[in-house]
Amino acid sequence: MHLFDRVFRLVLPIGAMAVLGTVLTVGWFTQPDRYVRGYAPPQPIPFSHQLHAGSLKISCQYCHSGVTKSRAAGVPSLELCMGCHKVTRTDRPAIQRMTQIYNSGDTLAWKRVHTLPDHVFFDHRPHVNGGIACQTCHGEVQTMTVLTRVMSLRMSNCLACHRDPHAALPKDSKITRAAEYCAACHR
Ligand code: HEC
Ligand code: HEC
Ligand code: HEC
Ligand code: HEC
Ligand code: HEC
Repeated sequence: MHLFDRVFRLVLPIGAMAVLGTVLTVGWFTQPDRYVRGYAPPQPIPFSHQLHAGSLKISCQYCHSGVTKSRAAGVPSLELCMGCHKVTRTDRPAIQRMTQIYNSGDTLAWKRVHTLPDHVFFDHRPHVNGGIACQTCHGEVQTMTVLTRVMSLRMSNCLACHRDPHAALPKDSKITRAAEYCAACHR
């Protein structure tokens, strides 16, 4: 009796806590990157949005021309970078490395910062054409030296805006709600 008492009062709760702690810790550290806000994988060339989109004021769509034409925004080809960097800052190691890759016919393997699971359908067009600014979802990209994910890619985040999008839309927008039926995003 006495022994059982001690087991129940002490050993079991401590054991249970340890198991729970382990599960939570493992879960936290192994959750897919797409759920981690602040995710900023190292890129093959230290490309700065702060420099190009901020200081130089190159428009987002100059490089991400897909946003109004296709589902994906697209990341620019090395060709586009070299349009400027055949002559611009050719003395810098990063540009020289880029030129080498370009001349060898290789492409740059940019790491994805935002990814949704395969069962989710996202399309930039209705959002961008509806007048939602890139910054509403992606944050103040033009101030980022290293592109960092600030948006939640959870379903609840999509739905929260779809239910009440007016703050994200231009004042004269005719859109009042966006799709909430499952097949809009799961097709
Ligand atoms: C419209 C012209 C233009 C395009 C397109 C462009 N850049 Fe640049 N980039 C510049 C200029 C100008 C600077 C230098 C700014 C400064 O130093 O003040 C620069 C600086 C850089 C630097 C910093 C070099 C250093 O070490 O100081 C890197 C790296 C770079 N660009 C990479 C890229 C990549 C990668 C692309 C394509 C995705 C690209 N650039 C597209 C104009 C451009
Ligand atoms: C000179 C070209 C250039 C301009 C201008 C530019 N970008 Fe980019 N963008 C890139 C490149 C190259 C990458 C991939 C490397 C990286 O993530 O830093 C990228 C990555 C991104 C990503 C992350 C993509 C992913 O993997 O999930 C977002 C979001 C983004 N840009 C938004 C913007 C926005 C918003 C603007 C305007 C404020 C902008 N970009 C302007 C070249 C550009
Ligand atoms: C309504 C929110 C929202 C808006 C507005 C938005 N994006 Fe995105 N963006 C996303 C999501 C979500 C993803 C991830 C998509 C995926 O994994 O299929 C993404 C992915 C990207 C990527 C990764 C590469 C790709 O081909 O999709 C780039 C680059 C990007 N966005 C740039 C932009 C730019 C530039 C703008 C403004 C013109 C913009 N986005 C506006 C939500 C948004
Ligand atoms: C900041 C607000 C906002 C966020 C965040 C947002 N959306 Fe939207 N979305 C809209 C608006 C507004 C529309 C409707 C545009 C229209 O009616 O023309 C829309 C339309 C869509 C459509 C087209 C629906 C149709 O009827 O064909 C899809 C698909 C979609 N969103 C998916 C997503 C997914 C997936 C996410 C999350 C990763 C997301 N959206 C996050 C505002 C948002
Ligand atoms: C506006 C877009 C949108 C709509 C509408 C939507 N979903 Fe989702 N759903 C997502 C996104 C984004 C994810 C992936 C992120 C996540 O798991 O939170 C997701 C994930 C899921 C998952 C997987 C959850 C997991 O943990 O892996 C299920 C199940 C699901 N949705 C069911 C539904 C059902 C049922 C409906 C209709 C009542 C619905 N969704 C409507 C965007 C949407």
